[in-house]
Amino acid sequence: MSGKVALVTGSGAGIGRAAALKFAEEGAKVIVSDVNIDGGDETVALVKQKGGDAVFARADVAHAADVEALVTKAVDTLASSTAPATTRALKVKLFRSPSSRRTTSIAS
Ligand SMILES: NC(=O)c1ccc[n+]([C@@H]2O[C@H](COP(=O)([O-])OP(=O)(O)OC[C@H]3O[C@@H](n4cnc5c(N)ncnc54)[C@H](O)[C@@H]3O)[C@@H](O)[C@H]2O)c1
Repeated sequence: MSGKVALVTGSGAGIGRAAALKFAEEGAKVIVSDVNIDGGDETVALVKQKGGDAVFARADVAHAADVEALVTKAVDTLASSTAPATTRALKVKLFRSPSSRRTTSIAS
């Protein structure tokens, strides 16, 4: 997943944290997002300890405006870490688990 950005909501603990660590292990830059700032910071630290790249962005996925801002951040992060956005087609895929209120997004 080198050159890709993974946005993982609810990644301040549990399954979301495990997903963030896996995306980083596979080479993606990870945007760790959660309502819990301490948990998010801890996940970022764990990613970096393992040699990965991650940043934290607080968001409550129950609020549409928070989610929209997160997706914008993911696209901006991808554009700034790769070729100029004007020369690339940016795709955003949204995955929402029916069993949770979480949305996982990947910009590629
Ligand atoms: N379908 C299944 O087989 C299955 C199995 C295990 C867990 N689950 C479900 O998956 C979910 C996650 O489980 P877990 O063990 O990782 O839970 P967890 O409590 O360890 O982690 C949940 C994370 O989500 C964050 N969070 C909660 N509400 C949020 C919101 N509105 N916006 C952003 N972040 C928010 C929390 O702060 C926490 O960091 C739970 O709902 C659980 O019931 C389903």
